[in-house]
Amino acid sequence: MANRSTTFTGIHFENPFLLSSAPPTESESNILRAFEAGWGGVVTKTIGLHPVVNVVGAKAKFMRTSPDDAYVSMKKRPGAALHSSWNWELISDKALDWWVPRIRRIKEAFPNRVLIASIMAGSGNDKELRNWQTLAEACQDAGADGLELNFSCPHMDRKDMGSNIGKDEGLCSVVTEAVKAAAKVPVWTKLTPATHDIVVEAAACFRGGADAIVSSNTFPSLPIIDPETLEFEINVDGLVSSGGLGGPAILPMSLCNMARMCQAFPGKAFSGIGGVSDFAQALSYFLLGCGTVQVCTAAMLDQAVGPNVIKRLLAGLDQFMDKHAADGWTSIEDFRGIRRDRMVAQSAIRRPAGDEYQGGYDIVEGYAAPDRAAAANA
Ligand SMILES: Cc1cc2nc3c(=O)[nH]c(=O)nc-3n(C[C@H](O)[C@H](O)[C@H](O)COP(=O)(O)O)c2cc1C
Repeated sequence: MANRSTTFTGIHFENPFLLSSAPPTESESNILRAFEAGWGGVVTKTIGLHPVVNVVGAKAKFMRTSPDDAYVSMKKRPGAALHSSWNWELISDKALDWWVPRIRRIKEAFPNRVLIASIMAGSGNDKELRNWQTLAEACQDAGADGLELNFSCPHMDRKDMGSNIGKDEGLCSVVTEAVKAAAKVPVWTKLTPATHDIVVEAAACFRGGADAIVSSNTFPSLPIIDPETLEFEINVDGLVSSGGLGGPAILPMSLCNMARMCQAFPGKAFSGIGGVSDFAQALSYFLLGCGTVQVCTAAMLDQAVGPNVIKRLLAGLDQFMDKHAADGWTSIEDFRGIRRDRMVAQSAIRRPAGDEYQGGYDIVEGYAAPDRAAAANA
């Protein structure tokens, strides 16, 4: 019988699928519903200490593409398929003392499911580093099984917060170290994809003592401009700011970042996020080396916490392991990372043999051919 359970950063999971830090995990009732639906874990919506006021109007919308013309738009229309989510939502607008009793109650109701508290503070001075420790201590004392440090929120104007930490290897290291000094539970860091070389920031987090890297948060992006109104499809008073893209559109980009990090640190723990709605996508993350997988956009579109998504993920995992029973695979560890080494330098990819290879140029036909022949004979 295949075994769905796994141990990741020392934490036991009934199954390796988590709801990521986002609207599906913004409240006690959502998290309880998520556990009833079968999710192995949740990462809470990010908890901070500074006041949070979101923009007027919609904080997140979905983009769809139509099969006939590949038009990507937030406008709902028949036959269009999901392309991505777009959001400019800040972290939780609920205070730490709102969260603490709720974390405690959730863990009492579901002691065997995993609750990771996502936290965020600044990094500009010692007081901000102490704020990280205050958040960490409060959440772990309430029963959180682990901490996820948000180094990746793309909407922060402050230079010392969110993805601005994730773009600075020094800050990644210093903040991780500060939290590790106070933490009694495993510490994961969630990195931004908006950086030149994510392997550099991952290394810095590991230097600071991180137990796992989580990737990806959303990618910097804008909604499109409506060709009729000439306004951004989501705006306030005609204005927009760079927001975050999630969902199917980011799957290949997130896989690429994950492949690079898993190769650079084959012995370390990684949690994959980005464009997962079914087992096929989760499998890519496992095969690259991830030990758990997280989901946001697909769950938001499925009764807010993804009861059908988790059903599909679990059924897919069971079927996959049944199919490979003859290979002796009985748990995720048996196939985790078996495609880690398949991404190589372009020059290491086989070329057509001998004369067939034209150095990247096609054989020129037509009027140019004689010149080519003359040059070759000269
Ligand atoms: C509306 C919205 C709010 C989000 N809020 C947070 C947050 O508070 N903290 C965080 O770490 N990530 C946040 N995320 C990012 C998601 O957790 C996830 O990393 C991202 O959406 C990619 O996963 P997906 O392709 O499954 O959507 C948010 C995403 C969305 C769409």
